[in-house]
Amino acid sequence: MADPGERGRFGGHGGRFVPESLIPACAELEEAFREAWADQRFRRDLDRLLAVYAGRPTALTPAWRLSAELGINVLLKREDLAHTGSHKINNVLGQALLARRMGKTRLIAETGAGQHGVATATAAALLGLEATVYMGAKDVERQALNVFRMELLGAEVIPVTGGSRTLKDATSEALRHWVTRVDDTHYCIGSVMGPHPYPWIVRELQRVVGEEARAQCAAELRTGVPDYVVACIGGGSNAAGTFAGFVDTPAQLIGVEAEGGAAVAFGRVGVLHGFRSYVLQDEDGQVSEAHSIAAGLDYPGIGPEHAFLNDSGRARYVTVSDEEVIPAVRRLARTEGILPALESAHAIAWVIRAAESGELPPFCTVLVTLSGRGDKDIHTIREAA
Ligand SMILES: Cc1ncc(COP(=O)(O)O)c(C=O)c1O
Repeated sequence: MADPGERGRFGGHGGRFVPESLIPACAELEEAFREAWADQRFRRDLDRLLAVYAGRPTALTPAWRLSAELGINVLLKREDLAHTGSHKINNVLGQALLARRMGKTRLIAETGAGQHGVATATAAALLGLEATVYMGAKDVERQALNVFRMELLGAEVIPVTGGSRTLKDATSEALRHWVTRVDDTHYCIGSVMGPHPYPWIVRELQRVVGEEARAQCAAELRTGVPDYVVACIGGGSNAAGTFAGFVDTPAQLIGVEAEGGAAVAFGRVGVLHGFRSYVLQDEDGQVSEAHSIAAGLDYPGIGPEHAFLNDSGRARYVTVSDEEVIPAVRRLARTEGILPALESAHAIAWVIRAAESGELPPFCTVLVTLSGRGDKDIHTIREAA
């Protein structure tokens, strides 16, 4: 999980499939990020914000009672404890600092679950930038609390009514808008997707999750590294950040997709939102709609580096159905006193299924990234219950 080079390729995936008018903006962003990432002052500023503002490092919590029930050793990387309630803040603080360094005064973003939108609105407020967030109209309804949070923070939320009215359509709309305002606007993408350099930038900004977890596992585990590293996948940013900390170890890397948005399991190689990867599509190559109870996993593609990690066999991608998710939320709530986001509950649900079916051997150690907290989902959980 290194620098993908100027062409932004991860094996046959990735690249920069955008209209001619966006090529200079992507090139400018790549150059600015290369400079900033090599600049110790930029890194110090970001590290300081992550520590004094976002609350890093986040805890590594042994899930004692769940572990005892399952006969394995589960450790939770607690991104739910980060400011704004998920890992999204790690990426956004980095991109907002970069935007300011590039002289941009506005941030635009797409959001599904609303967590990336809230994080963007938060960073914009902190750094005195304007923020506009595109959100599918269906997600505006099911994540109403986060819409209100964004507006309180001073962001404008634009509901997107086309297509499936979810994350895919919000992303298309944000890209369309960026074309018209590249001079003063930075497009703050929320996951390891989009045209190069975004998948690389977002993975680097989320790497902190994996690096912290690696050091914390070294202190916590006799073996130093866990046997399995598990994270849920929408576009794939919490998983990419986590995997980056363990890719050079013997740990087995497992990405958990929502069954209704499982691009690796059910997709074919195609181009979506400026990058080549696995994408859900029909026989004619039209992008299909994804369906998931978790708005943040309701995306028909997967980040290009995950497609490459799948092809190379370094990581494995599995699926969890909507029906398995609510019981996983309840189980974690009742055994550990932690209410996970519906997205994160996919990772927990897979661990429960794999432990109970014997796929995970007794006494093995499993690191799970708990990407966010469940407050935003209380309404959906109550309805499902
Ligand atoms: C809590 C939470 N986890 C996971 C995701 C999925 O995103 P990613 O795959 O980029 O980590 C989201 C997206 O909104 C989210 O809010």
